[in-house]
Amino acid sequence: MSEPDRADLLELACEVAVAAGRLLLGRGGRPEVVATKSSPTDVVTEADRTAEELIRQLIGARRPGDRILGEEGGETGGGSSSAARATGVRWIVDPLDGTVNYLYGLPDWAVSIAAEADGTVVAGAVFVPRRDELFSAAMGGGAWLSSGALDPRGEDTDPPARLSCNQDVPLNRALVATGFGYEAGRRLVQGEVLRGVLPVVRDIRRAGSAAVDLCSVASGSVDAYYERGVNLWDIAAGGLIAAEAGARVTGLHGRPASPSMTMAAAPSLLRQLHDLLAGLDPERDA
Ligand code: IPD
Ligand code: CA
Ligand code: CA
Repeated sequence: MSEPDRADLLELACEVAVAAGRLLLGRGGRPEVVATKSSPTDVVTEADRTAEELIRQLIGARRPGDRILGEEGGETGGGSSSAARATGVRWIVDPLDGTVNYLYGLPDWAVSIAAEADGTVVAGAVFVPRRDELFSAAMGGGAWLSSGALDPRGEDTDPPARLSCNQDVPLNRALVATGFGYEAGRRLVQGEVLRGVLPVVRDIRRAGSAAVDLCSVASGSVDAYYERGVNLWDIAAGGLIAAEAGARVTGLHGRPASPSMTMAAAPSLLRQLHDLLAGLDPERDA
């Protein structure tokens, strides 16, 4: 795919992420839980669904032939109907990453939108509405942070800043973000693994949004991130943003980042984190 196409996909990802973020911000009041998924604490609010519907409408109106994989609605589009063009583009959407934070009024939640071309993520946007921070990256074009997307006049906006992850941080000085799944058996093992990690790093952060965690690696707000059990929609956009900021984003034992394990850090730190985690056998559930 050519550079202008990536730029177009990125522009649309950013525009749609900001529109959905604006909708989520404007809802007011305590969000209502309308369903649960993998466990009673894995909740879905009406806001998750409404935001995904808006995202699907906006992308579908501009690029009707693309497939869309969304956390709430699954994969749609790209069928054999004559209306569907074979664009090779699939959008990967988490309409609200950090739902529990959203439910409790905490600021770290985000809209995460990535565009994959022929199976490779080439553009990603993560919008954190409560901080008015838009993280974005197109493959090969660096990672960027801009603010002011919520300013209707578009004034007083600083130019976007190019992001670069922290380099040359040894493991024992590293601030490491992680997250936990919703199921008790998985958490039991995640707790055991954390017990092995905590004594040998600077400290741990659990922000509550995998997409924000990966953007924090990109911006240097943390040094590293690892988590077992994330889904593609949690990491597709943030993973590209971290990688474009100089981080390596992988799984264990040379495997790509996946639900089984996702790690992100500058290359030298990632090697150390990898060896630590590999010794703790983290890819299991109780
Ligand atoms: C969750 C968040 C959380 C991570 C979980 C995810 P959700 O996504 O990213 O930080 O630890 O693994 O499932 O449910 O808020 O969209
Ligand atoms: Ca998520
Ligand atoms: Ca979500």
